[in-house]
Amino acid sequence: MTVILEHMKGAIFDLDGVIVDTAKYHFLAWRSLAGELGFPFTEADNERLKGVSRMRSLDILLETGGLSFGEAEKLAMAEKKNRLYVEYISQLDESELLPGVSAYLTWLRTRGVAIALGSASKNAGFILDKLNIAGLFDTVVDGNKVLRAKPDPEVFLTACRELGLGPQDCVVFEDAEAGVAAGKAAGMYVVGIGRPELLKAADLVVSGLHEL
Ligand code: BG6
Ligand code: MG
Repeated sequence: MTVILEHMKGAIFDLDGVIVDTAKYHFLAWRSLAGELGFPFTEADNERLKGVSRMRSLDILLETGGLSFGEAEKLAMAEKKNRLYVEYISQLDESELLPGVSAYLTWLRTRGVAIALGSASKNAGFILDKLNIAGLFDTVVDGNKVLRAKPDPEVFLTACRELGLGPQDCVVFEDAEAGVAAGKAAGMYVVGIGRPELLKAADLVVSGLHEL
């Protein structure tokens, strides 16, 4: 593996798509909302929502259906979708951790690397508890803590500050294009998790943490 990974002092992980595959539950919940509004929503449409904040996801969904609503109605819709999503993720347990997650995070800890979560999700704390891995993180920066969504670097800059490190000492692990862009904008080395053709801006791309 690269020299950078050998020498990192801080590792900042995205949640959805890196630690756990929650995209399928987001999809089921958004598709149910689209169904109620009277239009189809496919898994291909769902790709556009990865890494994107809840309200921006709703805007993209409504755009797909060619509909527009006022702010109050949109807030009510986002809350409804989230209630359904939370029902799905209430069933999560350790068996849904993506391959290599526990081993890699535990290995980093034994090497003294500080670990942060850097996620757009407002459900991050709940999900980490369900997966029983909250104790592996030194700090959790999620959608409740930051104002500007990825590709803005705020979430990663906040995480590295909370770890007491500088951007040059931190490595970001991300599966979404917007997240890779956020990591690069923060001045960090970025490991893309997924397909190289979709994550061209990443410094290195692997299929999952099990490869590292
Ligand atoms: C990101 C997901 O991690 O969190 C997005 O990739 C999601 O798909 C976003 O919209 C916000 O999540 P939540 O849990 O706050 O609705
Ligand atoms: Mg993600």
